[in-house]
Amino acid sequence: MPQVSFSSDIKPLFSAIDISHMKRFGVELDSYAYMSNPDNANKVLVTLSPHDGEPPTMPPGGPYWTSDQLALFAQWQSGGYQP
Ligand code: HEM
Repeated sequence: MPQVSFSSDIKPLFSAIDISHMKRFGVELDSYAYMSNPDNANKVLVTLSPHDGEPPTMPPGGPYWTSDQLALFAQWQSGGYQP
């Protein structure tokens, strides 16, 4: 994939439930302005990723993102957070 885009590639990975449940914690998964802040994007990616053999913390109980989806998110970051 040449350029990974937030609106076409990343935002569709979040469900309506993910988006609405996280809004009350101030985590705006559907907002480009929020997600293109590298601190916010890194925190989101940490919650989506498995650690030391433990499952991801988000979304609680799964279904968890696949390694392809996690790689796509990282590619979006390294590509300069295209809208
Ligand atoms: C900075 C990133 C995030 C933080 C700090 C965070 C934090 C939290 C906290 C504290 C809760 C409530 C307690 C719990 O159920 O464990 C929660 C619930 C939830 N989070 Fe996140 N979360 C983040 C990212 C995400 C992401 C990326 C997703 C989805 C891909 C997600 C999906 C959900 C859902 C669906 C719930 C509601 C679970 C329920 O009500 O049964 N969160 N999150």
